[in-house]
This record gives sequence, C-alpha cells and structure tokens, in this order.
Amino acid sequence: MCGIVGSIHHQNVVPTLLQGLSNIEYRGYDSAGISVLTPRGIKTLKRSGKLEHLRNLLDSQQLSGFCGIGHTRWATHGEPNERNAHPHSNDQVSVVHNGIIENHSQLRQWLQAEGFSFNSQTDTEVIPHLIAYYLARGYSPQKSLNAALANLKGSFALGVLFDQDQQHIYAARRGSPLVLGFGEGNVSLGSDAMALNINDDRILYLEEGDQARISLNSIKLVDNNGKAVQRKQRKNEIRHEHCSKQNHRFYMHKEILQQPDTIAQTLNHTQQQLTELVLDFSKISRLNIIACGTSYYAAMVAKYWFEQQAGLCVDIDTASEFRYRGAPLDQNSLTIVISQSGETADTLAALKHVRTQGCKTLAIVNVIASSIAREAHFSLQTQAGPEIGVASTKAFTAQLSTLACIVLKAAKERQLLDADNSASLMDELQQLPTQIQQVIAIEPELQALGESLSDSRDAYFIGRGCSFPIAMEGALKLKEISYIHAEGFSAGELKHGPIALIEENTPVFVIAPADAWLDKTLSNMQEVSARSGRCIMLGDQHSLTTLNIEQCQAPPEVVLLPCSSALTSPILYVVALQLIAYYAALSKGSDVDQPRNLAKSVTVE
Ligand code: M6R
Repeated sequence: MCGIVGSIHHQNVVPTLLQGLSNIEYRGYDSAGISVLTPRGIKTLKRSGKLEHLRNLLDSQQLSGFCGIGHTRWATHGEPNERNAHPHSNDQVSVVHNGIIENHSQLRQWLQAEGFSFNSQTDTEVIPHLIAYYLARGYSPQKSLNAALANLKGSFALGVLFDQDQQHIYAARRGSPLVLGFGEGNVSLGSDAMALNINDDRILYLEEGDQARISLNSIKLVDNNGKAVQRKQRKNEIRHEHCSKQNHRFYMHKEILQQPDTIAQTLNHTQQQLTELVLDFSKISRLNIIACGTSYYAAMVAKYWFEQQAGLCVDIDTASEFRYRGAPLDQNSLTIVISQSGETADTLAALKHVRTQGCKTLAIVNVIASSIAREAHFSLQTQAGPEIGVASTKAFTAQLSTLACIVLKAAKERQLLDADNSASLMDELQQLPTQIQQVIAIEPELQALGESLSDSRDAYFIGRGCSFPIAMEGALKLKEISYIHAEGFSAGELKHGPIALIEENTPVFVIAPADAWLDKTLSNMQEVSARSGRCIMLGDQHSLTTLNIEQCQAPPEVVLLPCSSALTSPILYVVALQLIAYYAALSKGSDVDQPRNLAKSVTVE
C-alpha cells in the first residue's frame, strides 16, 4: 500500500530517495517524506499530496546525507495531511512503515502515560516512541528495535534510522514485503524492486519475519527467531525503461498499447512453464479461484473456460470474502490465486488459509518472488512487465492468457481435448497480438466514444457468458479513473431490476461477440433501446449481421472488432473498453495513473 525506500551511498542519497519514491508513487500518493542522517541529527522533510510537493520543498531547502529513508503514503489511520505523513520521528529515531499496527491505541495510551507526546493520528507513530522508550533504558539500537517489535501486533514493513548509528538502516518485515538492492557503492531498501536504486544489479527479498541491518560494507540478516540467516541474491530484472512513460502522457496508455507484446510473451512463457508444472488435472476434483478487483474478473472468465473446456467444477471468490467464509475444501481440489502484485493482503491471507487446510495451491502472479508466489505450492509468472498505472490493464490480459493456457492443459489431461483441437485453440490465442493491434488501430474511434461520456452521470455494461466479467471489468475501469458511476451486469439479469436505472440516453455498453449467447444478448440490448437508453454495441461482423436493426428503437452505435471465440473475445474486447475508459477519464481531467483514493497494491486488509 504505502511505499518505502532507503539508501546508503558514498554520495548524497536525497536524489536517489526521490527517484525511488517516484518509481513507487503508484503505491500511494497521499503524502511523501524523507529522513536523512546528518552530523546534526536526523533531518526530516515531508509534504502532503503528491511527490512533486516534496520535490518543490527540497528545491527550497538544503538537505543531504549519506544514509536515508523515504515514504509515499496511502492513508489508513489519520487523514492524508502533513502531520500524518511519514517518516515519523523523535530526536533519536525515524521510521517509515507500510502496514497496520493493530494494537496502536493501547500502545499510544501506555506511551503517553510514560511521557511521550504524539504529533499525528497514525498507528505508525507508536513505533519510534516505543524504540526510544527502550533506548532510554540503555538498550542498543538493535535491541531497542527487537524489544519494540515484540510489542507490535499487526503487519508491517519498516525502515528505521537511529541518530546514534550513522552507518546503518534497520529493516524488518512481518506481513508486508521488503527488498534489498546492491550496486556499485550503494545499498538500497524498498517495498518492491521498483523502489531500488537503478544501478542495483542484485536484489534480495526478505522472508516473512526477517530483520536486516544494512550498511555499505555489511548486511546482517536474522530470521523470525533471531537466528542469523543468508537469503538468496538474484539478478535485478527491472530495466530503466520500465520506469519511464516513454512518449506517453500516462503509464496506463503505454501499458494498454504494450498488450500485443505482453500477451505474446505471456503465451510463450506460460507454455514453457506448464511443461515443468507437476500438476495432473485429471486427478483434480474441483477448482477454487480466489483474487481481488480486476484479478477477480480474470477468475470469473476462467470459471467459464474451465467448466466448458475442461469439465471442471469451479468456485470463485473475492479473497476478502473467502478468508472468513469458512468454506469446506475438498482435499483433491486445487486452489488458484491470481494477483498482479503478488502482495495483496486479502489474497495472501486466503492462500495461507487454503494451505492450512492441506490443499494444493497454484499462484498466477506478475511479480516474481512476491509473497504470494513464494507461499503457493506452484506459481506461474505472467509476462506483463511492471504495471505502474493504478488501473490494471496489461496485467489482466496477461492473467487471462496464462489461464487460457492452463485451461488447454487441463482439458487435454481430462481427455476432453485432443491434440489437434488443442493446437487449433492455441493458434487462436497466438492470433491475439495481431488482433489487438487491430483494436489499437481504431483508437480514434474509441477516443471519441470515451470523450462522449464526459457528461454522463452513469454508464452500464452488459454481457453474457465470458463477456459478463468483461462487462464488470469495463465498468471498474471506467469508475476507477473517470469517477463516472458505472456498473456491469449480466445481460440476462438486467430485466430483474437494473433496467429501472435506464433513462433517456443512459450509455449502455453491450459486449456482443458472435458467441453462443449472441441472440440473447442482442434481445437484452433491444430492451434497453426500447427504454431510450443509448446502446453502444461492441461486436464483430457476424454480430452486426445478426442484429435486426428494424427492431431497435434507435440503431445502436457499433464498435466493430475482429472475429473471436469464447477463448479470445474476453482478451480482445477488454482492450477496447480500457481505451474508452482512458479517454473518458482524460476528458474529465483525471490523473489517470493516480486516481483518487486508490493505490496499486493493497497490502492491508
Ligand atoms: O495486485 P492484485 O492483482 O492482487 O490487485 C488486485 C486489485 O487490487 C486490483 O486489480 C485493483 O482492482 C485494480 N485497481 C484494478 O484496476
């Protein structure tokens, strides 16, 4: 949720900290701040709002040091103002925190009784004071931190500076991720690999419960039990161009247009990974698929695919519901969790719950070595590359591409698909990059449609079968970046209530590829048209031929897309909806990459 950076360098670390914060601003943009160690003590500067406010402040104030930490916040406890911005400090200690301290009220009361005064409304501020409490009793920095951690309940990733130890950054993870980076003459800390110094060629993921004490010359790592441990260093795969918008105004636009490549790479990579996956779908009795947000809509699409192609019963759940539902699990079932970030707290907790039930788990993640990837028995990595726009686009189509490959494997292993049919379905998938280029080629038309929504109060999206989740995703994209009220419905459900919302000219997007549900979807469109709604049909040539224009009160506006199948239409049609949402948001002047109230990865419950 929040983003953490830390850096130790031979040179002033302030520019590095700012660069790191800029790379992870998608994790939260309610406020930003940094602390550096100076010979005159810990110096902290912070500002509410986006990082540029902090950058402006730093332009007008001298701040430099060789060791520092920084933070970009997504508010949980306390409003998003400067007082509540991190780092939270006292004279001796400065702390940046991602997560939630659940027992902060009790600790605050106790520390206040001990004479500490609080400046903020945050849960985090108890941490520096708790550490200072132990320092005052003669504990070393490391022992004070240990004693403080022993009092904390909840989840956290922490970066800590001590005034009396000018060489080190201290770090701890419990429930929230932390990564170390190593390069020539510098060490860095981050809540994900994007936060690290761009020159770091090696990275190391802290494991759950780990603590680290890092300096330019040494790293000391201990595990949950305080035992010294080594963790594997790996090559840093983040490339500089991943962090830049290149010629695009927003990351979201860059990421939508990258999809022909990311899908091609994901299809190829998944097929390779599946040859090594030791899972036999003929032995699996049932599937559970768990995810949040857009990733949940990928699960919804996959339910149709697995049931129709592989004859597998599938239960799907949003992770926040699943983890407290107490669902009895079949021991021969497989649970698939889907997450772009691999760090979503609800999904991670649901996965852990499934593991405690003794059932097999498979993770589909975009971020390699993420907590979810490590927790699952098996994991597959989509090849979307870093997704920075808060609204998920290329990660979603990459998830669907991976799921489609798994469906084919399952169908073959369950004897429901022979080699020829499997090859021809794989061919269809391989056509997607070219077909998506054709969708991108009609960008001006989609732009005009998006812009035409700018005065709409509401918009609705309907579809049947695999297009129902795409209707949901189209609505989510529109609402999260344009703030237009948008809902997705299964087209057949419309008449059971939502149709009451249709007024004259209410935009209704009808997802109508030529599939088994087409006739029924078109009938539902007529129902909207009969109530003077504004129908915008996304379909192909065959859908157009099937449409009986005479029966429509007014002919629908039509977005003509390439021909597709039930396996490819969700991936193809969503790209058009992403572009429509993007241009609707632009026309409303939204900050598309950083929409209000949101953050990229939700690492709190
Ligand atoms: O990283 P995850 O895929 O686990 O994230 C799940 C959701 O938080 C995410 O998809 C969210 O709904 C996006 N803002 C959608 O655009």
